Amino acid sequence: IKRIGILTSGGDCAGLNAAVRAVVHRAVDTYGWEVYGISRATHGLLQRPPEFHPLTRVPDDYDLLVKGGTFLGTTNKGNPFAFPMPDGTVGDRSEEIIEGYHQLGLDALIGIGGDGSLAILRRLAQQGGINLVAIPKTIDNDLGSTERAIGFDTAVNIATEAVDRLHFTAASHSRVMILEVMGRDAGHIAISAGIAGGADIILIPEIQYSMDRICDHITTLNDRGKDYAIMIVAEAVCNENGEKMTHQLALSQCRLGGVGQYLADNISTRTGAETRVTVLGHVQRGGIPSPLDRLTATAFGVAATDLIAEGRFDRMVSWQNRQVVDVPIESAIAHYQAVDLNGTLVKTARAMGICLGEPVR
Ligand code: F6P
Repeated sequence: IKRIGILTSGGDCAGLNAAVRAVVHRAVDTYGWEVYGISRATHGLLQRPPEFHPLTRVPDDYDLLVKGGTFLGTTNKGNPFAFPMPDGTVGDRSEEIIEGYHQLGLDALIGIGGDGSLAILRRLAQQGGINLVAIPKTIDNDLGSTERAIGFDTAVNIATEAVDRLHFTAASHSRVMILEVMGRDAGHIAISAGIAGGADIILIPEIQYSMDRICDHITTLNDRGKDYAIMIVAEAVCNENGEKMTHQLALSQCRLGGVGQYLADNISTRTGAETRVTVLGHVQRGGIPSPLDRLTATAFGVAATDLIAEGRFDRMVSWQNRQVVDVPIESAIAHYQAVDLNGTLVKTARAMGICLGEPVR
């Protein structure tokens, strides 16, 4: 091994730069390799010449440890196997990416991504003889075979702070405050921040809710002397007809408001409560990474570089039982991790009297 590449792919999150920094430390200081940071996920490899940043060790790279986003750039658009072409069709540009990788003379590639990106990178690796090692990142925390992914902890911190702040304004105005958080398919951010922030109601896509149950809970809180309520809802929660109501979908249908607004309208009609909605959006992905995300990213960066040194490819670094181990990339992709309905968080929420929207049995 003489030269490795690294890229960030999919939606950004806090902690990506910290992972790249750790890879450069380990690769340069321990192994004496060159490191090329590829621009904008695989898009850099589509350019001719391929676009990359030569990454050298600088004495003071503290800024990378704490800087949000990814200085390499990223994208969640442009799957090389179904690439949007100018004529409106999609085409396969995978061979161009593979050629770009080989043009750079890379011996291995570290891909930092979530399930979608890692599936694409793995397919490219198998097709093009790329020695791939993966680092998990996703604020949604729904990737299998790892207890942690870079970005999740920061997102939960930001969402929890939002819940904390909503308590005071909700209490002042006796309102039902609804906070809509990210999670394209899973409710990990919502249930974690909901418990940590002392929410009254948490809705996650893994649990089918009943509007009657939610309204009953708000009335019961009132009867007990709490004249406000805090509700946190994952964006992937559906309306009562089982249709997803994400903001992306709302915009594509030329209407305003996702599931948070839908719930707010229903609650105020049924209970007479005054409601307000906050959509946290991309605030959850930006900003300074939490200490835990910096730590996770640094440990993952070092371990991923070591996997290359050991010649162990098609593996993903993973956090399990207090340490970093590695698993086949395939298993991480195959074992999508929804919120465990029999797990600690659901049990804890129920025990704390938090309404999860379930109909009373
Ligand atoms: O998967 C990460 C995520 O932040 C989801 O939580 C969210 O639904 C989606 O990405 C938003 O993507 P975009 O950056 O395209 O708006």
